[in-house]
Amino acid sequence: MTEVIDGEAVAADVRAGVADCVDTLADAGVTPGLATVLMSDDPASETYVSMKQRDCEEVGIEGIHVDVDADASAATLFETIDELNGRDDVHGVLVQLPVPAHVDRREVLRRIDPEKDVDGFHPENVGRLVAGDARYKPCTPHGVQKLLAAYDVETDGADAVVIGRSDIVGKPMANLLVQKGPGGNATTTVCHSHTSDLESKLADADIVVAAAGIPEFVDGSMITSGATVIDVGINRVDADTDRGYELVGDVAYDSVADVAGAITPVPGGVGPMTRAMLLYNTVKAAGRQHDVDVDLP
Ligand code: GUN
Repeated sequence: MTEVIDGEAVAADVRAGVADCVDTLADAGVTPGLATVLMSDDPASETYVSMKQRDCEEVGIEGIHVDVDADASAATLFETIDELNGRDDVHGVLVQLPVPAHVDRREVLRRIDPEKDVDGFHPENVGRLVAGDARYKPCTPHGVQKLLAAYDVETDGADAVVIGRSDIVGKPMANLLVQKGPGGNATTTVCHSHTSDLESKLADADIVVAAAGIPEFVDGSMITSGATVIDVGINRVDADTDRGYELVGDVAYDSVADVAGAITPVPGGVGPMTRAMLLYNTVKAAGRQHDVDVDLP
């Protein structure tokens, strides 16, 4: 029987642990604060940011949201970031990506105070992750690592294939899997749009993380029997629904579920974990900035 990995349930456990951290911080007189910044008219980005704000409220994190006009200058966005960096009640600053084309994404990420970079995207934090001394692990790959641990999927000695090399998911995912220590020690291959013969790379994979951003890209014929398949994709495809679209992963669920040992659904797999790990990083940031020990879940 294929095991369906329940990201909602694991995320609920992480949120409960985060709520305990919020209590510990409150005892020390600290209310953790997360600032989200949206410089986009994209409905999907608007939805993601409002869900992040709702999550904050649920666990007792103070959510602060700033909209920056999508036509505004990069300087306007930088001023907003500088102001949030300087606020004592803001412990985490997140600029929702993508930013408009006239704004340099790298410059945005460098502008965020690395101590408040709860996405883990600032080059200093990327460097620390690669060096095996992470300050804030990026939320999606960290969430995947937590899911694997929750379902006792052994990474030590496993052959893992990450499909996708984005800065947000693919690269940090591979870095986490390859690190020495719990949740790591995997022999890790990163595949991408220029990979030749993807099928042969997947043939021995015990763990597959699909993060290509292509709807139903991975099908059952590509997966070895018993593999654990983690679907990071959230693709909106046109459909005859009230919303006019449906959400589809990077994995063709039915065909892969016939072969895999364990699989994450979309929705309800990785997505809730990404959101939960942002809360985790926010209480971690608040603890670091106020020298309060929090017992992270
Ligand atoms: N856009 C898509 N995923 C993410 C994420 O994890 N963080 C930010 N800041 N933007 C995103």
